[in-house]
Amino acid sequence: MRQLRALCDQHGIVLIMDEIQTGFGRTGRTFAHEYAGIEADLITVAKSLAGGLPLSAVIGKADIMDAPAPGGLGGTYAGSPLGCVAGLAVLDVMARERLNERAVTLGGVMTARLENLRDRFNCIGEVRGLGMMIALELVKNRRADSPDAELTKAVVQAAGRRGLLLLSCGVYGNVIRLLAPLTIPEDELAAGLDLLEQSLAEASAS
Ligand SMILES: Cc1ncc(COP(=O)(O)O)c(C=O)c1O
Repeated sequence: MRQLRALCDQHGIVLIMDEIQTGFGRTGRTFAHEYAGIEADLITVAKSLAGGLPLSAVIGKADIMDAPAPGGLGGTYAGSPLGCVAGLAVLDVMARERLNERAVTLGGVMTARLENLRDRFNCIGEVRGLGMMIALELVKNRRADSPDAELTKAVVQAAGRRGLLLLSCGVYGNVIRLLAPLTIPEDELAAGLDLLEQSLAEASAS
């Protein structure tokens, strides 16, 4: 990230950080790129910004943001009053409930539990993430170069039958990403991880 910033500075390129998924506490910072210690020129935000109500935004340096003439930027749903009120409420809740810190704490709980599962299940190649944005990589016999998309599909289906909705992703279709709400009660998170464990056991046994 720091090299990208330097490259953009060198050539006068605008550096845009897409924080639509990572923004607003997901990784334990308000913006994930804070970890890199750099400044973006523009940041795109949506999703958690208004707790699920439709709102998106672009944050940026004044010389870029002020470049369009008045009325030069518009959109059908721009500035939806309901979305904006929800966005303000989200900012209050984030501060009041210290959601950045909570993402780090609960992310630690999740990672510890998943690393324990990795020690027990040969099919878990890697557990990685930042805050509460965590991914499990499923592989054949712990080999990072042998992605197991079929098993990943089976785990997602086994979890679905138990009432746990998981999303697979990754270039090779072998990654399960976990993005629990930052406000999730701890017992509910533990119950979800129990279901994931059962689903891994079922799918890897067959
Ligand atoms: C990282 C990322 N960027 C951009 C988008 C698109 O966002 P929007 O639908 O608000 O344009 C998404 C949507 O899933 C996303 O995950």
